Amino acid sequence: MFPVEIKKDIYWVGTIDWNIRYFHGPAYTTHRGTTYNSYLLLDENPTLVDTVYPPFSQDLLAGIRKLIDPKELKYVVVNHVEIDHSGSLPAIMEAAPQATILCSAKAAPAIDKHFHSSWTKQIVNTGDTVSIGKRTLAFVEAPMLHWPDSMFTYVPEEKLLLPNDAFGMHIATSARFDDEVDMVEVMQEARKYYANILLPFSPLVLKKIDEVVEMGIDIDMIAPSHGIIWRDNPGRIINAYVEWAKGENKKKATVVYDTMWGATDKLAHAIVDGLIKGGMEVNLFRISNSDRNDVVAMLIDSELLVVGSPTINREFLASLSAFLDDLIGLKPKNKRAALFGSSGWSGGAVRQMAERVKKAGFKLVEDSFEVFWVPTEEELDRCREYGLRLAQSSE
Ligand code: FEO
Repeated sequence: MFPVEIKKDIYWVGTIDWNIRYFHGPAYTTHRGTTYNSYLLLDENPTLVDTVYPPFSQDLLAGIRKLIDPKELKYVVVNHVEIDHSGSLPAIMEAAPQATILCSAKAAPAIDKHFHSSWTKQIVNTGDTVSIGKRTLAFVEAPMLHWPDSMFTYVPEEKLLLPNDAFGMHIATSARFDDEVDMVEVMQEARKYYANILLPFSPLVLKKIDEVVEMGIDIDMIAPSHGIIWRDNPGRIINAYVEWAKGENKKKATVVYDTMWGATDKLAHAIVDGLIKGGMEVNLFRISNSDRNDVVAMLIDSELLVVGSPTINREFLASLSAFLDDLIGLKPKNKRAALFGSSGWSGGAVRQMAERVKKAGFKLVEDSFEVFWVPTEEELDRCREYGLRLAQSSE
């Protein structure tokens, strides 16, 4: 890749991963690929902020060499130790053995344990600054955004915030800036990223944004470590984070189900009819045909989740398990859940799903909707009324 100057003598030297389709192992789908953004600050003490995923190490070095000899690097900032950002440290430190790593106190032992190395490190805490010549690096610890070690680097002379994972998104684009790309696609991916990665840390997100405001940090560019750089409207992503972190809901329901022979499918569509009649915005997903990360992204501003399954061996269908397990980990706030399903003899799916959604922190609607075998027209009418009642009890 050719370096891209994002501010005078500050370059994006990252890489575009067009082909990645799974991130965090199988946990996160990246339909639109991603980028690993690394930044080179040319000053009296040249500084690299973050590296890239290891398969792209040589691309990163080639980009740096278009601007300087890596032996000139004085500092390498490690904002976060996860391998997509620190994975090229071995290649960088081999090419620049004189460089000092700047990292948080939590990052230092994590770097040692990841790379079994003895590179020179300098620990920085919130409020610490390091002069690199005409410019200053100021550090703000940001634990759990995304790992305990995470921190932001701020360059006050440039009003430039380098927050690593925060304010990023998984999208591979040929352009680097927010004013050069399709903002609908970018915000879809930013929302998916927040919902599936940062949601459990929402209280910390709000606290960190407040802290940054209180510190009087003036920002005119946010350059995260994934996706596009916010230069035209950095406020857009900050405002979206505040909205998502507060758990602000719309009058919206997300219906997620699976079916064996079609009975639960009929119930799902009848409930949707009722919800729509009751004035709710609705999204319906048959989970075995759907991407569960996309479903979670849709759920982030839904006040109601409706989950359905037939019973098999006294349990719900296994295709719903990963989705429900994700919710237990993500623990979305301020949401209700309602359940439905068809069964033959014993039943059990609704009871088992109730345990999962309660564990995920949802307020369970007291009555669920269950039928034996295939619903009759009369039962489907009652199911529509059930959906209507759910919509009418919307808060
Ligand atoms: Fe992009 Fe937490 O790594």
